[in-house]
Amino acid sequence: MSSSELDNLSTQFRGRTPLNSIPDPSQCPSFTSSHRKPQTTPVRRISNVFTPVTGHTGTPLINSDPSLHFDLPQDPSFWKDHNVQVLIRVRPLNNTEKVSQGYGRCLRQESAHTLVWLGHPETRFTFDHVACQTISQEKLFRVAGLPMVDNCMSGYNSCMFAYGQTGSGKTYTMMGDIGEMSGKLSEQCGITPRIFKYLFTRIREEEDKQKNERLKYSCKCSFLEIYNEQITDLLEPSSTNLLLREDLKKGVYVENLTEVSVSSVDDILRILLQGAANRKMAATHMNTESSRSHSVFTCNIESCWEKDSMKHFRFGRLNLVDLAGSERQKSSGAEGDRLKEAANINKSLSTLGLVIMSLVDLAHGKHRHVPYRDSRLTFLLQDSLGGNSKTTVIATISPSICSASETLSTLKFAQRAKLIQNNAKINEDASGDVSALQQQIQQLKACNMLY
Ligand SMILES: Nc1ncnc2c1ncn2[C@@H]1O[C@H](COP(=O)(O)OP(=O)(O)O)[C@@H](O)[C@H]1O
Ligand SMILES: [Mg+2]
Repeated sequence: MSSSELDNLSTQFRGRTPLNSIPDPSQCPSFTSSHRKPQTTPVRRISNVFTPVTGHTGTPLINSDPSLHFDLPQDPSFWKDHNVQVLIRVRPLNNTEKVSQGYGRCLRQESAHTLVWLGHPETRFTFDHVACQTISQEKLFRVAGLPMVDNCMSGYNSCMFAYGQTGSGKTYTMMGDIGEMSGKLSEQCGITPRIFKYLFTRIREEEDKQKNERLKYSCKCSFLEIYNEQITDLLEPSSTNLLLREDLKKGVYVENLTEVSVSSVDDILRILLQGAANRKMAATHMNTESSRSHSVFTCNIESCWEKDSMKHFRFGRLNLVDLAGSERQKSSGAEGDRLKEAANINKSLSTLGLVIMSLVDLAHGKHRHVPYRDSRLTFLLQDSLGGNSKTTVIATISPSICSASETLSTLKFAQRAKLIQNNAKINEDASGDVSALQQQIQQLKACNMLY
């Protein structure tokens, strides 16, 4: 172990262990003995079992250099011809993992796109982006969040999901530290506040540029939680068990959900804090924890402008989704409400898995029924999965040996998600009076005569 690692470890020991970073011991494979005493007897290889590949000396070939860094390239043209992006984010090892397995890792990153899972069989994965542990919140926003804002402002629906086991960094990535320091966002704040800071700046720029056309944007937000297959309004927590409705024009929506007009980052931070407080309150009340619920923050961005006596409208819906922990729910000992809860959590996440599998089959030309309606989550977000949306999946993982099997299952989920084919189109509308339309017809005719 290098001296910098030792320093790092001792500083970490002095720090406080985050409550939600304590891993479930049952998720730690019985690695300790083989790690310390190199195995000499041949071992039967079972597929996807975590036994790290060892070198000549019997030392596990693990990447113990925590400072290995791969820069994330920004690619502004990506969304021109893609509708689904998959990004993996590896978080740093936490104290509990270090105490339990030292710097033992189940992963080796090879580039900004490839990762190798070091179990048997050793498995290489390629994704649109692999963000290593040294990638900052700002950098991640620039790569994944910023283009979504541009897409939404141009009238595309956009969606970002955070998927991964509890403690892998979903909430850190989506929200992070949402406290403000002297009017500035914290360095540790996540993608959501950064998205809105950028959105409102861009709106002011665009409105200024197109003053002559009276371009105006309006944004409305809502914040909900799905827990136990029930939808709660996080901005009005007395509204529980809200219903999903479907409308030809609006698509799928939540009936009676509070929508708040927003025009500044402060408005957003207020809503996020209010929602977070209500989420916590509901959690205590229901004797649960946020890792068992899904939260969906939605912003509807509309714009209108006038051109050639016509009024033009564009709208894009932005969904930011922090999913419940993807770890397998243990059913042993669960009874009554706890049993129902476990079944329902499985229902939303397993339906998400099934929806994605069916969509992958569809993409391969097979006929499949896509079970969107089998869970609240998939019904609400059906546009984002295989529909009219540009969608990013951020899969968060722990690099520790402790989480080897959950990390592998997250990587496999992310790999399948990449195969989804969405069909995103600009949502726009125009209206004008008859004479304006006639004038346009005349202009078009004139053009035709010229060419
Ligand atoms: N990329 C990261 N860099 C630094 N700390 C992280 C990172 N990802 C997660 N963490 C920390 O790990 C802990 C668990 O993260 P959290 O986002 O709450 O997990 P999840 O929402 O997936 O359950 C938190 O203390 C968080 O600050
Ligand atoms: Mg969380």
